[in-house]
Amino acid sequence: MNWKIFHYNNVTSTNDVALAQSRTAEGKFVIVADAQTAGRGRRGRVWQSLEGNLFFSAVLPYSIQQCGALVMLCSLSILQTIQTLCATADVSLKWPNDVLLNGAKISGMLLEKGEKDYMIIGIGVNISQCPDNTQMLYPATSLADAGIQTDCETFLSLFLKIFDKNITNNDSAAIRQQWLKHAKNLNKNIIVRQENGNIKGVFIGIDENANLLLNTEKGLQKIMVGDVFYGR
Ligand code: BTN
Repeated sequence: MNWKIFHYNNVTSTNDVALAQSRTAEGKFVIVADAQTAGRGRRGRVWQSLEGNLFFSAVLPYSIQQCGALVMLCSLSILQTIQTLCATADVSLKWPNDVLLNGAKISGMLLEKGEKDYMIIGIGVNISQCPDNTQMLYPATSLADAGIQTDCETFLSLFLKIFDKNITNNDSAAIRQQWLKHAKNLNKNIIVRQENGNIKGVFIGIDENANLLLNTEKGLQKIMVGDVFYGR
């Protein structure tokens, strides 16, 4: 295990504190906060940091070339944490790094480079509250809304155990296979929203760097950035 856990009451973003601490840190560590005043999401978006939800950054030495595999490993570990808390939970994965519960977003993550060889994985989990869905790009839910009772501390410590087990096995092909097993709409139509428009196609998998592989009218496309939607 040997994660050092630093708990804060209030921070701008756990990723900010993680970056500052990565300058002098040794070994892997976690920054967890009760509140964030400037939580951020992917693609410059705001992460609403509602009271009672979990906000943390797991920080570990990791090769930046393999950060695609790291993200898969993290989202899979969040999914397995929820399954451990509730064996019947309907959980799935949405590219690139969202976890869905009953088809709605329960967790998102933001990977950033730390100092030295550190990678920072900032993870938000809606434990007890869900943001107002009229304001969301993609519908969200919380564990409490789905009837799964837990608290931030229990969730984090279970996640770290599962993550450690997965990273020790460190078989990237197996992780990718597991990720795909839980991916929503594999071999079905999806829509990828990018800055310059939408691309439609059949989601046929992800490559070893976690890029999305989409079979479109124009042929196979490798997608590196975007937001996935499933249509009706
Ligand atoms: C996303 O889905 O867009 C990513 C959301 C990541 C949110 C977490 S909360 C903890 C960490 N600190 C942040 O400011 N962001 C991440």
